[in-house]
Amino acid sequence: MSGTVKIKKKINEFNKTITVSGDKSISIRWILFSSIADGISRSQNLLRSEDVLATISVIKKLGIKAKLTNKNCTIYGKGMNGFKYKDNLTLDAKNSGTLGRLILGLLINSTKTIRLIGDKSLSKRDFLRVAKPLTKFGAKFKLKNSKNLPLEIIGSNNLKPIKYFENRGSAQCKSAIIFAGIRTEGTTIIKAKKSRNHTELLCKYLNLPILVRNKKNFDEIRVKKIKKISPIDYKIPSDISSSAFFIVLTVLTNNSELTIKNVNINPSRIGIITILKKMGVKIIFKNKKNYKGEENADIFIKTPKSLKGINCPTKLNSGAIDEFLVIFLVAAKAKGISYFKNLAELNQKESPRLKWGAKILNKMGVKTDLTHDSIKIYGNPKLIINKKIIIKNYLKDHRVFMTSVIAALSFGGNWEIHDKDAIKTSFPNFLNIINKLKK
Ligand code: S3P
Repeated sequence: MSGTVKIKKKINEFNKTITVSGDKSISIRWILFSSIADGISRSQNLLRSEDVLATISVIKKLGIKAKLTNKNCTIYGKGMNGFKYKDNLTLDAKNSGTLGRLILGLLINSTKTIRLIGDKSLSKRDFLRVAKPLTKFGAKFKLKNSKNLPLEIIGSNNLKPIKYFENRGSAQCKSAIIFAGIRTEGTTIIKAKKSRNHTELLCKYLNLPILVRNKKNFDEIRVKKIKKISPIDYKIPSDISSSAFFIVLTVLTNNSELTIKNVNINPSRIGIITILKKMGVKIIFKNKKNYKGEENADIFIKTPKSLKGINCPTKLNSGAIDEFLVIFLVAAKAKGISYFKNLAELNQKESPRLKWGAKILNKMGVKTDLTHDSIKIYGNPKLIINKKIIIKNYLKDHRVFMTSVIAALSFGGNWEIHDKDAIKTSFPNFLNIINKLKK
């Protein structure tokens, strides 16, 4: 069966150093900022995945030249108003929520009609969450079923700044509004529940007039219109969300040690580290560096002697939002019951991931109590799987695929995991690194 991975054996203990590919969130943001910068921006180690390639295709369609060579990318930005394209342009965000939502912020001043489409998974996702606040700036939208793709946007050249309360902890919504704000005369004020802050850090590094005040439970962000952005040379660090699969594989494999080089450890992204530490895992950051406002480090992990269940504090949700599927595997092996709550957002991802988390665990023989926004996982430190497990029809969600591979290698059983191409979305190199750990 092409595109299907079969795994029948647990991985043996390993002691290795690996490098995972570039951070997806930072790669996409670097491309979008570079597309409106004045002049030539260069990056190294840009993630080469479908979400990132889709972002490059989109800016090319908007009239911006971009060149990808072996490991580098060059973008020839034409300034804040440099997009050139014909009326009724269609842009394809493919599988990428980040691209689909952020680009709408940048299109807020386009007076031509632009159609935004995406793949089957993205077309099921909520775009009203960005269309609604962007309408307040003065843009007009037509959305399928009033909330989905395909959508049409017509921006305005008479934009008004808005006050916006982002209460989901969505960095995509927050960033879309920041992008719209930098195109709008006056001050846009955002009150945002804590979420990843790569957009704000890039703005700060670029000296843009954006003011962030960190309050206890939310950030207040004031955004002003920008006339000019300087080109940005950037070396993209490795992705903590891709590292997460190997962190968990190390936790669940006997007597193993792993170092992952130069990973972005932005505090708004390391929920998984805090959660695993609370469950009894020893994780160390080595060679910490500040790079253009972002913190990076090597991550060292060792198999713990035992794991304990967790009642996961909800304040960690946003910083671990892409990692819960693999975190659930750790809970499956922990002593006691683990409880993860206020996670309705997890069902808004590339697939309904909270449901898929429960489905994978149940197929593994792990008991769960699932609600629309929470899951209780009944852990078993002696968990071993002896049966056949088939994973398919999961909307090709890359993280469902990779989590299933990690479960198979950690717990045994006879697994058949379909749609291997799903990894191309965020981590095309995933299976190669698994093979490196097997040697
Ligand atoms: C992302 C934000 C998160 C995350 C996604 C990437 C980003 O989505 O799940 O993978 O780069 O801004 P939400 O903003 O929907 O929480």
